[in-house]
Amino acid sequence: MSDKLIIFDTTLRDGEQSPGASMTREEKLRIARQLERLHVDVIEAGFAASSPGDFEAVRSIADAIREVTVCSLARANDRDIARAAEALKGAARARIHTFIATSALHMEKKLRMTPEQVHEQARQSIRYARNLCDDIEFSPEDGYRSDVDFLCRVLETVIAEGATTVNIPDTVGYAVPELYGQFIRNLRERVPNSDKAVWSVHCHNDLGMAVANSLAGVKLGGARQIECTINGLGERAGNCSLEEVVMAVRTRRDYFKLDLGIDATQIVPASRMVSQTTGFVVQPNKAVVGANAFAHASGIHQDGVLKARDTYEIMRAEDVGWATNKIVLGKLSGRNAFKQRLQELGVSMESEAEVNAAFARFKDLADRKSDIYDEDIIALVGDESVAPEHEHYRLVSLAQHSETGERPQASVTFVAGGVEHSAASDGNGPVDASLKAIETKVRSGAEMMLYSVNAITSGSTESQGEVTVRLQLGGRVVNGVGADPDIVVASAKAYLSALNKLHGNADRVAAQG
Ligand code: KIV
Ligand code: ZN
Repeated sequence: MSDKLIIFDTTLRDGEQSPGASMTREEKLRIARQLERLHVDVIEAGFAASSPGDFEAVRSIADAIREVTVCSLARANDRDIARAAEALKGAARARIHTFIATSALHMEKKLRMTPEQVHEQARQSIRYARNLCDDIEFSPEDGYRSDVDFLCRVLETVIAEGATTVNIPDTVGYAVPELYGQFIRNLRERVPNSDKAVWSVHCHNDLGMAVANSLAGVKLGGARQIECTINGLGERAGNCSLEEVVMAVRTRRDYFKLDLGIDATQIVPASRMVSQTTGFVVQPNKAVVGANAFAHASGIHQDGVLKARDTYEIMRAEDVGWATNKIVLGKLSGRNAFKQRLQELGVSMESEAEVNAAFARFKDLADRKSDIYDEDIIALVGDESVAPEHEHYRLVSLAQHSETGERPQASVTFVAGGVEHSAASDGNGPVDASLKAIETKVRSGAEMMLYSVNAITSGSTESQGEVTVRLQLGGRVVNGVGADPDIVVASAKAYLSALNKLHGNADRVAAQG
């Protein structure tokens, strides 16, 4: 007997809570379209009540996505739930996901509520939500560290009120696989109406066991929904990684005996898109999506794979989408070919003017770089200068000089709020000089937390360099990403992109804490 495992993707909500991973509405929409191509079952698009920006992102995704259920998170109160329902109005299939903490620690120290108050609020919130939407998920936050008798009572109540999915978060990543699996089984056995809801697992990766715990929740506990994110993106050590659970269930179907709706060939494109959008680089030895995940370096392994692939390979690289790294466009490609490729990549542009601006940037890149890959196109449209209304700062030009034995110098011209500025500085290297030149005018005072450079497409120095800059200012952390064949220019773009994010974006309510 086999049954279906529901894949609930929360890259755009729990993943985005990772400091510096915040995305614009357009970026979220592009990722949602890729998740639809991946055929996840549910996309948690955001937390509509947390900020006007998140509301708009959930609304846009709900309006655009037709094949997948779109979900919004909401705290267990009428205002949040009504906001979620409002944002989800245009969805073909909508889900409201409401939560309240149930562990003694969270109830007493964070919520300052008694268990009875929490129980009653959970009941009321599901009753309210059920009038607005048929598909309701309930999460007892910090569920794994909650008193089991109390948790059973809350879960029985919310199912009786009409919750269709109950999700048991290991919010702080404290669980170990066997115990988490038994915990889920125990709850399912003790809650009298447990068969009236789908049981779901939601594991954080603080001890590196999120994937193992989620799989134990399924295999030992009988859960039939896994909550996960692309590349395991998420706060602290992240969430359960989608690519790993999906490929574990698929590769070991003999053991899990579960069906998935996923189109695995879309995994690597999704991983790249999330990494490029957030600037969170995927480690080379990361299972499934790391650059080395299918590379055989030792002579014995190479020899074995050449004779018979399954000597050392349990999955095929092309089955998870590795073969897609091909030249797609070049210098002679026209606007129509460019536009069509954008559509195939799920990038929608709001106006022809935006397409024209992106095409001009493409032509500029194609003049300097002979082969253009999908990753180059994604980097190109990720550049905020395509949508000028979203940017305050924009690079105009950069010149730098470095020579052995000389201190490097840079002069940078950029636009700030519609006014052009030029500035010059020296520095330890040309990147340092360029960013210091920008700072002489901007004086942001932001602290740099991270600077990293990666080749967008592997294997050649012709690749564009992709730079991530993480800045912190007044408790806010933002990532800026910039790409260019010249890594000094990419660095200046990344720096200005981070400054744009510090300049925009209202703060929002956190889902936890
Ligand atoms: O980790 C957690 O507890 C959550 C809930 C809001 C579901 O993300
Ligand atoms: Zn979480």
